[in-house]
Amino acid sequence: LSEQVLQGLRVVVTAGPTREAIDPVRYISNHSSGRMGYAMAAAAQQAGANVVLVSGPTSLPAPAGVQRLDVVSADDMLAAVEQSLAEGCDLFIATAAVADYRVRLKQAHKIKKSNDELALELVANTDILAHVATRQLASYCVGFAAETRRVEHYARDKLERKNLDMIIANDVSDTRIGFNSENNAVSVFWHDGTQTFPSQPKQALASALIELIGQQRRIKIKP
Ligand code: PMT
Repeated sequence: LSEQVLQGLRVVVTAGPTREAIDPVRYISNHSSGRMGYAMAAAAQQAGANVVLVSGPTSLPAPAGVQRLDVVSADDMLAAVEQSLAEGCDLFIATAAVADYRVRLKQAHKIKKSNDELALELVANTDILAHVATRQLASYCVGFAAETRRVEHYARDKLERKNLDMIIANDVSDTRIGFNSENNAVSVFWHDGTQTFPSQPKQALASALIELIGQQRRIKIKP
């Protein structure tokens, strides 16, 4: 990084998937490896921030100098994020692929195969990012948008609807980037600007994104 753009700031990053239990042996989840979020946490730490990484289940080691809180479900992630934000937060970066729904009734015992069909009733999880941004629990909020079509349209919709300062959109229909790959390519949108970043290793991309976030945060905080 060209300068310590986040020197001394408190930064909270979410990363990885969540797992929503169906019964003691099964869950609903997604393909997030955690790499993008871990890269964001490492880049923020290298930019001088004190970083808390709230992580769903991944096989990655915690980046050096970063405090990691391990969680499993979306509800666990919400609780850990609220706890991390309680002492104040200058920047919240939501990279996690949080499950939008959980199973209404988690079964206490393994479900037996008895019928040809089985229906699971799902209920919506709290949107952690919207919760943080709407209540202004962090002074600058950055979301990611995982889209498979109309990437800019849906990303801008999330920027407005979730009350964000910035959104980083990736096209997760392209298997060379996004979920569980070494590289990523993104388009970033904020209220009066946009920038695209071509496909590159996630750690290099994260450093460039942290630089941009640091600049835009300064503009917002000190107009
Ligand atoms: O982990 P990797 O394998 O490296 O893959 C990286 C990634 C593709 C997961 C990452 O780059 C990415 O796009 N993360 C966001 C995934 C996602 O769930 O996007 P979304 O468009 O469904 O959600 C929008 C935003 O709301 C995200 O910032 C998400 O963290 C947040 N959200 C969503 C639902 C919810 N209940 N709580 C949230 O905070």
